Amino acid sequence: MLPKTIEWKEGKVILINQQKLPSKLEFIETEKPERIAEAIRTMEIRGAPAIGAAAALALALSAYHTKARNREELISELSKTADMIRKTRPTARNLFWAIERIMNKAKKTRGSIHQIIREIANEALKILKEDEEINMKIGENGAKLIEDGDTILTYCNAGSLACVYYGTALGVIRSAWKQGKKIKVIAPETRPKLQGARLTTFELKMEGIPVTLITDNTIGLLMQKGKISKIVVGADRILSDGTTYNKIGTYTVAILAKYHKIPFYVAAPKSTFDLKATREQVEIEKRNPKEVTEICGCKIAPDGIDVLNYAFDMTPPELITAIITEKGVIYPPFKKNIPKILGQ
Ligand code: MRU
Repeated sequence: MLPKTIEWKEGKVILINQQKLPSKLEFIETEKPERIAEAIRTMEIRGAPAIGAAAALALALSAYHTKARNREELISELSKTADMIRKTRPTARNLFWAIERIMNKAKKTRGSIHQIIREIANEALKILKEDEEINMKIGENGAKLIEDGDTILTYCNAGSLACVYYGTALGVIRSAWKQGKKIKVIAPETRPKLQGARLTTFELKMEGIPVTLITDNTIGLLMQKGKISKIVVGADRILSDGTTYNKIGTYTVAILAKYHKIPFYVAAPKSTFDLKATREQVEIEKRNPKEVTEICGCKIAPDGIDVLNYAFDMTPPELITAIITEKGVIYPPFKKNIPKILGQ
């Protein structure tokens, strides 16, 4: 197994630099919240639960190294860090959820400034610890849906690297594998940032779980040939009706799965759900055109070409077979069953 994606060590944050994978397993070590913001923006750390954990630790760093002399100054400093982190990536719910959780803790804690700082660090560490426990539970719940002999297509990377540890979609795959089920995984490369090629295959290969890398445009052919029995993907945000935002291309996979009658599962923690937002309110991130016009610094398109580089897309609930969470597996009708299973 990989080391943890992100950790806290005596007033420092240590995280795996995912931009260097799979060539090098390198770590970024920092005491600065600004450096965490940059790591999220540049996708040195990525994946919804992982950027949630990074946001929490950025606030913990702010508190730990503060020069504030009183409670008001500390809260104002934390609010500035929170604003900076909120601006990094707009789509994944976990980032905003983690900021809200830490800020609420800071605002509610009474006592000395030292007590508030301690409570913030504790709450951030709790988020990291919970991530691991939650993913184990998602794995356990999801593994029941996986049969011996299945070939599972996952998309992008919803693995240990996208979380603190273990993963959501890859958590389901890991747990099924640990139960002795002889499964195989298909990993599409996931253009343009290649999380499937660089990260998912890296994680699975490390553990000896059979994985085959394909180009994104091979997915339809494999389904047509009957080579894929199930699909398990992660999520960046899930609305109250089950509408799921995930890596660009997920919607295409879901449409193809429906046509070929292949079960399509989404695996995600409760912190990815946004039960208040409407589709109109969700911002789908658009990223730098260079991610499309260049591969590893090599130009593959003419200068000045128009580019659309959406990072995520929206999969409507009618294409989703079930949503696997730490609280249980949620089946349609999602509007009724999401609050019932999540307990909200
Ligand atoms: O742009 P990324 O790499 O942050 O996108 C990641 C995904 O879309 C994942 O599937 C999602 O965050 C779930 S991770 C458990």
